[in-house]
Amino acid sequence: MTETREPVEELLDAEWRADRLALRLNTIRAQRPPQLSHQGVLDQRIAAWSAELVARRAGNLVVVGDVGVGKTWSVWEALDRAVRAGWLGGFKVATSADWQDATAPPVDREQLRAMRVVDFLALDDLGSFRINDWQRECLLSVVDERWQHGLPTAITTNMRKLSEPLGDRLASRLRDGATVIALSGADRRKGR
Ligand SMILES: Nc1ncnc2c1ncn2[C@@H]1O[C@H](COP(=O)(O)OP(=O)(O)O)[C@@H](O)[C@H]1O
Ligand SMILES: [Mg+2]
Repeated sequence: MTETREPVEELLDAEWRADRLALRLNTIRAQRPPQLSHQGVLDQRIAAWSAELVARRAGNLVVVGDVGVGKTWSVWEALDRAVRAGWLGGFKVATSADWQDATAPPVDREQLRAMRVVDFLALDDLGSFRINDWQRECLLSVVDERWQHGLPTAITTNMRKLSEPLGDRLASRLRDGATVIALSGADRRKGR
């Protein structure tokens, strides 16, 4: 027997979803730092990746470029855009201080667990700082588990060759099936 849904149920579902999306958009905008909230145009390739996130088909995203070209801004903008398009996934944008804190002994197990399982994780400025073997192992456990479960991870970095700062095991999991976008241009912070 096929189940038929009452129109009122459909309506309630749609309302519930709209409420959740509005809440999620508020959450993202409250967490997004003011200095990364400028209005602007998102790189088309990153916009396409954002649409993949909404369709639950997104792989990893690697945003490479020099300082100030808009790497971190692009990650936030891609998330904002995904929510506006109906994405309700959980997300975490970890600054370099966040992920360095979480991986410095004694490790923050709760944070690391959250980073392993959240629907979307961004690790900002990965590879731009020297990481020790201990931190590399911690990050590897996060990235490996996400890779095994096909959960998308984005990184921003100014290093073109990821395996140098991160090691082959970490770099290869991050690169696997990833959309790699090189942003170029001037340091936007200097032009103000
Ligand atoms: N496409 C854009 N349009 C408008 N402002 C932008 C854009 N990309 C970046 N910015 C702004 O430029 C500054 C530098 O961007 P940021 O993402 O911090 O660069 P990066 O992470 O590459 O160092 C930030 O204040 C950000 O809000
Ligand atoms: Mg940045």
